[in-house]
Amino acid sequence: MNRTPLVILGVILTIALSLSGLVLVPNWQFQDHKPVVNKLAATQYPAPYTGAVLHGREVYVDQGCLYCHTQQVRPKGYGGDIKRGWGTRRTVARDYMYEFPILLGTNRTGPDLANIGARQPSRDWHGLHLYNPQITSAGSIMPRFDYLFRTVKAGDPPPKGAIVLPPAFQSEGTHIVPTERGEQLLEYLRAQNRSFPLPEAKQ
Ligand code: HEC
Repeated sequence: MNRTPLVILGVILTIALSLSGLVLVPNWQFQDHKPVVNKLAATQYPAPYTGAVLHGREVYVDQGCLYCHTQQVRPKGYGGDIKRGWGTRRTVARDYMYEFPILLGTNRTGPDLANIGARQPSRDWHGLHLYNPQITSAGSIMPRFDYLFRTVKAGDPPPKGAIVLPPAFQSEGTHIVPTERGEQLLEYLRAQNRSFPLPEAKQ
């Protein structure tokens, strides 16, 4: 019996089904995604990243933060993300509509950062943590990103924006000052806030 037509039909069906399931249906589902705009308050969510935050995103990518950190909050019943305080609701496609590529991440050696700006808004905290995670989080296994800062030696006047080092960590200097890229990364981290209520993300 000649099975060639059947095999060809099978191949065509497989391609057609995957094309519709992976490309056409998602496109159709997401085509109407629009940001939520509040004209009175002149706010928009989500909004495209601009300026330092946008550059900070590049620093986040090239420093490899995403190999240890995710940026996605799973819904209740699919893991303990909300219980751990990583977000007030699940994240959905609309949260990422202006991001390319999306930095969802695959590995959680450290906590999820989808809402780190809401959870930890302090510039000083992030500065100290990046400079040396041991300062804020004793026993942390996160590597130091101290090259994103310069130190101010004892006796030298600290410039504007300098962050004071705690006395126990002053062997390298009394203050740290973020480099341009360090400052951009701090801005990016503090902008990570996906807590805006969206109707399609009930929990
Ligand atoms: C080798 C894995 C690793 C890498 C790479 C890494 N981290 Fe972390 N990170 C961790 C771990 C583990 C923790 C939890 C302990 C701590 O707070 O230091 C953490 C914690 C954090 C926290 C605090 C989260 C919270 O909920 O308190 C922030 C913010 C953070 N990392 C940002 C970054 C940024 C930005 C980068 C890239 C410049 C980075 N991490 C790279 C492992 C990593």
